[in-house]
Amino acid sequence: TTVLVLNGPNLRRLGTREPEIYGADTFDDLVDLCRRTGAELGLKVEVRQTDDEAEMIGWVHAAADARTPIILNPAAFTHYSYALHDALAQRTAPLIEVHISNPHTREEYRHTSVVSSVASGVIAGFGLNSYVLALHALKNLL
Ligand code: DQA
Repeated sequence: TTVLVLNGPNLRRLGTREPEIYGADTFDDLVDLCRRTGAELGLKVEVRQTDDEAEMIGWVHAAADARTPIILNPAAFTHYSYALHDALAQRTAPLIEVHISNPHTREEYRHTSVVSSVASGVIAGFGLNSYVLALHALKNLL
């Protein structure tokens, strides 16, 4: 099975971006971690990142057509993108929402997710390990 690990805006800047919140590991470290974990679980993992809402929505449509499961860190789109919500609502395979930080401990505007209502489940607050936990959870759903 192929699994998409999709990442929203600013996540390419992991390692330099607010390290006190998101840690010192880079986006390339995240890609390695996801691939290694996928290999252990027998999943082919493809990791992508975009700052562009339209590109993200295009990936979600293609995944729906191909019945591809998604692990998604929607980043700031989490909190306001009804367009992303509507795209994800068309899903035909499991969807796990992940966050590196725990948004519920942060600013009020991060307490709302427009993605969670269409997700199979949500994992937040465990640093990059959130993705490892999500891959294990997905493996159990498939
Ligand atoms: C995030 C949390 C969001 O609130 C924020 O906009 C991000 C990253 C996380 O992984 O902790 O960009 O999704």
